Amino acid sequence: MRQFKNIMVTGGAGFIGVNFIRYLLNKTPFKGNIYNYDALTYAGNPLSLQDIAAGYKGRYHFCKGDICDEKFVKKTIAKNNIDCIVHFAAESHVDRSIHGPAAFIKTNVNGTFILLEAVREAAEKGRKILFHHVSTDEVFGSLGSSGFFYEDTAYDPRSPYAASKAASDHIVRSYHHTYNLPLTISNCSNNYGPYQFPEKLIPLMIINALEGKELPVYGAGKNIRDWLHVNDHSAAVWQIITRGRTGTSYNIGGENEWQNIELVKLLCKTLAARTGEAEKKYTSLIKFVKDRKGHDFRYAINCDKIKNELGWQQEYTFARGLEQTVAWYMDNREWTDTVRTGAYREWIKKNYQ
Ligand code: NAD
Ligand code: TYD
Repeated sequence: MRQFKNIMVTGGAGFIGVNFIRYLLNKTPFKGNIYNYDALTYAGNPLSLQDIAAGYKGRYHFCKGDICDEKFVKKTIAKNNIDCIVHFAAESHVDRSIHGPAAFIKTNVNGTFILLEAVREAAEKGRKILFHHVSTDEVFGSLGSSGFFYEDTAYDPRSPYAASKAASDHIVRSYHHTYNLPLTISNCSNNYGPYQFPEKLIPLMIINALEGKELPVYGAGKNIRDWLHVNDHSAAVWQIITRGRTGTSYNIGGENEWQNIELVKLLCKTLAARTGEAEKKYTSLIKFVKDRKGHDFRYAINCDKIKNELGWQQEYTFARGLEQTVAWYMDNREWTDTVRTGAYREWIKKNYQ
């Protein structure tokens, strides 16, 4: 089992990064330092880790920086003796990539390249860094109503987001093949859980429903996604960085496929059970809206490899995960309000600039 002293988490102020840092500190034997390297774009919110920053002074460090800033990346790695990088930082929302792809190419492709160059330079100086690249199942394209994505499924990305992640996956692989660097990749399905920015389906629907706003379902709502609790994703990443084979990629999924419309109805039911309101109060808010351009029909992951090789498996049932998630957004209205109204940006301006 690999052991680390100083882990750099890129994008650690975003949805999965925040949950991964919490997981590292609370659920693993890791005793070293965490360096959260994040540019604080609209999706980055250090308020999500305020308790961690206060409770783990000396072990948790925030470094405000862009992964495209080569000088600062290299300086941060060298100064803090980083021996593992878990790379979450990315532009992550498909709809945004349709309206403005440039930032996706810059951060997801060029930013990943800059991090890899830093890892290569460190290796040349005799400092070995395990680099784990967090990617998505969307690189594999879109499935019909049957079949699954395997690790060796040919890449066929169809949105600018998916294409930028696919490009970065290829660059990571090439760095392993060419320079023999210790690199790992994971391709995960849709995550849900606390601290997710409410542009993504599940938090958007929960928050809108609680506010009596429309629940916009794209097209006929028949598209299918495979949902995984974010803590199960964190557990998989931990297994990979400590025990995964370098130069290889692992698929991670929930084995939990839902048509969007069925999922939105289930969310309404879960909300009603928690608030005591009639389910109809929420389902009546459902509105079918114009479909997303190039909307991928179905994603479904086969994750036998990580199960068989590393003994990972999902711990959350969807019912429990959704109940916990709905409860979290209801109980953390300060977080959701500051995010929804944009007030968190003011707080960041005051504290981080
Ligand atoms: P997110 O959008 O919630 O967070 C992204 C974080 O990266 C933010 O904190 C942002 O400030 C930071 N960031 C963006 N550009 C940066 C830059 N140039 N330099 C430094 N930091 C920058 O994303 P997420 O949902 O937490 O996703 C994290 C990773 O997981 C991404 O790589 C994404 O492709 C991948 N992934 C996400 C999902 C999902 O369902 N959300 C599924 C599979 C894979
Ligand atoms: P999203 O959370 O954006 O993740 P991704 O596109 O990466 O899978 O969307 C999940 C699914 O929900 C996708 O099929 C698009 C759909 N969707 C809606 O129907 N309405 C919405 O408002 C959003 C944000 C997504």
